[in-house]
Amino acid sequence: MCGIVGYVGNDNSLDVLLGGLKRLEYRGYDSAGVAVLDPHGTLHTRKRAGKLKVLVDDLATTPIASGSTGIGHTRWATHGGPTDGNAHPHLGDGGRLALIHNGIIENYAPLKQELLDAGDTFESETDTEVAALLVGRAYRETGDLTEALRHVAGRLEGAFTLLAVHADQPGVVVGARRNSPLVIGLGDGENFLGSDVAAFVEFTRRAVAIGQDQLVTIRPDSVEVIDFAGNPVETSEFEVAWDASASEKGGWSSFMAKEISEEPEAVANTLLGRTEDGVVVLPELEPLGDALLRDIDRIIVIACGTAAYAGMLGKYAIESWARIPVDVELSHEFRYRDPVLSDRTLVVSVSQSGETMDTLMAVQYARQQGAKVLSICNTQGSSIPRESDAVVYTHAGPEVAVASTKAFVAQVTALYLLGLHLALVRGTQDRARLQKLTGELHDVPAKLSKVLEASAGIPQLARWMTDTQSVLFLGRHVGYPVALEGALKLKELAYIHSEGFAAGELKHGPIALIEPGQIVFVIVPSPRDPKSLHPKVISNIQEIKARGARVVAIAEQGDVDAIQHADEVIPIPLASPLFEPLLAVVPLHVFGMELASAKGLDVDQPRNLAKSVTVE
Ligand code: F6R
Repeated sequence: MCGIVGYVGNDNSLDVLLGGLKRLEYRGYDSAGVAVLDPHGTLHTRKRAGKLKVLVDDLATTPIASGSTGIGHTRWATHGGPTDGNAHPHLGDGGRLALIHNGIIENYAPLKQELLDAGDTFESETDTEVAALLVGRAYRETGDLTEALRHVAGRLEGAFTLLAVHADQPGVVVGARRNSPLVIGLGDGENFLGSDVAAFVEFTRRAVAIGQDQLVTIRPDSVEVIDFAGNPVETSEFEVAWDASASEKGGWSSFMAKEISEEPEAVANTLLGRTEDGVVVLPELEPLGDALLRDIDRIIVIACGTAAYAGMLGKYAIESWARIPVDVELSHEFRYRDPVLSDRTLVVSVSQSGETMDTLMAVQYARQQGAKVLSICNTQGSSIPRESDAVVYTHAGPEVAVASTKAFVAQVTALYLLGLHLALVRGTQDRARLQKLTGELHDVPAKLSKVLEASAGIPQLARWMTDTQSVLFLGRHVGYPVALEGALKLKELAYIHSEGFAAGELKHGPIALIEPGQIVFVIVPSPRDPKSLHPKVISNIQEIKARGARVVAIAEQGDVDAIQHADEVIPIPLASPLFEPLLAVVPLHVFGMELASAKGLDVDQPRNLAKSVTVE
């Protein structure tokens, strides 16, 4: 959730911190703060409720001293509302230590009592201040910031990334992590820490991910990593696959507009280098072993939100092509219900951020139960891939807008690649068919570009709907997850009550919601497929129209029935059934964004949300 950045070097750390926070603001945006150590060892802090801009303006009006060591934070409130007082950093050791935190300290109550009993007083309602005061006390005993943080980290329960600086130690930033992300950026005479690589990619693309229960101490010329027991840890460096410009708006009105425009590229990049002789090759699966891939008797996809809808589409494709039963589970339900797992179960986690706490916990749980875990992830250096047996990266590039768009189509693409690869390994489809399917997948980016061109009328449709209170989305088969995704985007972006339904379920209840004027989006399957559910979905349209609904159909170009019965038709290019959802979802992404914009809302940072949900 919260964004964290730390810096030591020669530069004015405040500029580096504010630049990093700007790139991390998507992680949390209800308050922000910085702490900077000047060359004389004086600690300067400033923190403000509201978006980062409030802090930036405040610092412009009343600057603080510059220095070459500092930490910065953007917050997504957990303990205590979004106020100046609850914003980070929090102070310890009589104001000589500053600490920032991402996560939740679950045992903060007894620790707070201990501090109160010892005579400490609290300035905020946060769990973080407990850690700040404890590290301050430990520093007074040890005289060393790394040791002080190590001592306290071992006592904390829950999820946390902590960064601390102390006035006695200019040129030192110390971090610790458990179940919450922290990545090192390696510079020349300067080093960085960040919740993710976006914090420092402007300055360096050399990065090191820090493992579970580890601490890091950065100085301008050194980086040391130890575990919570104090043992040195070997680390390995990776190169960030994208540069700073990829995480900038580049002339677009919003990150979301830019990211939707990048959907074709997200699919194309995810396909890149993964085909040989017309069939899919995924060397990334080697750690799982071909024997397991042949013997799997069940796949469980675990994910949350949009990633879970991508998982639902993966289910249709993998079952159809590789003939393996697939269940899709919300990560937060999965590990609390005693799931049946065996060494022939493959658990596939899907996560854009690679940090979603619910999914991370489910991955850990699945491995403890003996299942192998494959992760589909968009973020290098994040926690979930590190905790998995194998990883297939989606190459959607950095996704900054809080609501997921291009990552969704990239996730579906990766799951389809998995399905095609499993079909090859298990011999469930002949080579010619696999080549045909792989070819169709490669045709998707060009078709997506056409969908975007054909979406030009959507802003007008959205403007017409700004007073709408409720929108329903219907789809069948692969159109069903698309309906769910369309509804989720509208809820989170435009704050409109919206629901996605399987169209076949309509008569079992939801049709009672239809009254004159109700807007219903319907994802219509292609009429060309002999087994298509097209006639049934067209009947559904007629049923709801008869009750006064206004229907917007997403339908294949030239679908005369859709044109005849719906009020509006958004056309998508011809594709075979399993590839249609990749095309049908894009107009819904555009619609959610346009309706939110027409209502004057911030499409990149919707209220109450944060990009990486790193708390349970
Ligand atoms: C919706 C959205 C969320 C995420 C979900 C999982 O637009 O973005 O529903 O899909 O929080 O996030 P990741 O993929 O990072 O695990």
